Order: sequence, then structure tokens, then C-alpha cells
Amino acid sequence: MSHQTTHRTHTARVPGQPRATEAAPVAAERGPGTVEVTLTVNGTVHDIEIEPRVSLLDALREHLDITGPKKGCNQGACGACTVWVDGRRVVSCLTLAISCEGHEVTTVEGLADGDELHPMQQAFVEHDAFQCGYCTPGQLMSAIALIEEGHADDDAEIREWMSGNICRCAAYPNICSAIRAVRDASEGGR
Ligand code: FES
Ligand code: FES
Repeated sequence: MSHQTTHRTHTARVPGQPRATEAAPVAAERGPGTVEVTLTVNGTVHDIEIEPRVSLLDALREHLDITGPKKGCNQGACGACTVWVDGRRVVSCLTLAISCEGHEVTTVEGLADGDELHPMQQAFVEHDAFQCGYCTPGQLMSAIALIEEGHADDDAEIREWMSGNICRCAAYPNICSAIRAVRDASEGGR
């Protein structure tokens, strides 16, 4: 008499991974509808009502009327929307506004000290580093950050670390001159 054996297939469990019932607690879900998001921009705290899918760029421009960051490609390719989050440059079109809660956002509007331009803004003026000016806010945010990052030793390095910022007017040589001038002035001040 033959016995039939029934084999059951069990889903393999990866060692170290929790069972479904042991899943780690997840953060409270917000959205997909409108939620309140708190953003600190240039030192001012703002509460806005947005869907969690809204980009930082749209939150700034459409909800806070902070229009320095420009929308070029909206795909992370042109750098026109560059801002700093906790001092680090990011393309705001690919950054979710909700992910910036608890962080400091700085836009080109936050560079000047009252009527006194930031040295990089002044250098852009003196070196004729912009034409239409559309890319300029993003160029400025990158240019300042790249010196602080230590990426301005020579022209090749400046070009490489500014390469995420596209200028349709091709003001590149003058942008490089402005960056060199600020770099040299800050080195002289050390
Ligand atoms: S608009 Fe963000 S990189 Fe072009
Ligand atoms: S100055 Fe016109 S796009 Fe750069």
C-alpha cells in the first residue's frame, strides 16, 4: 500500500528579518490629501497646507511666494532650482517639501544681509557673470557651497563641481571668474 505524502511549500523566511506580524512600527501616515507642513526658510518658520507629493520648489514658489529658485527642467538636470538644506545644496525640484521639516532651507533670498549683497552676489555683478539671470540664483547657491566644500582649487575643479548648473546664456567664463575672485579673497582673509 502506498502512502501519498503531501508536501507543503512554506515561504522562506530570511533570517534576521521580522515576520509580518513583527513589523517595526511605522511613522504615522500623512496624506495623500492635504496636510500641514512646517518649513523653515531663510530663518522664518512657515506652516503650509500641501499634499505630501509637493516638491520643495513648488512649495517655495507657489505657496510661499519665494521665487528666487527657478523652475527650469523640473527634472534635476539644470540646477536652476538649487537651494541649501542644512547648508547642503539640493535640487529643490526633486526634493519633497515634507522631507524638509525640521531642517533649514536657504534660498537665494537668504544670502544678502539687508541691502548688503553676499560677496558672491557682488562678484557676479562685478564679473558680469549673468546675462538673462534665469540660472543665476541656482549658480549662486552652488558657487558659495562649492568654496565651502573645498572644491574650488582650480578651474577644472570649479567647472566639475558647478557642472550641475546649466546656463543657456553660456556665462560660464564669467561665473568662473566670480568664483575665483571670492575664493582668492577668502583665502587672503585666512
Ligand atoms: S528645475 Fe530643478 S534641476 Fe532643473
Ligand atoms: S544667465 Fe541666462 S541662463 Fe544663465
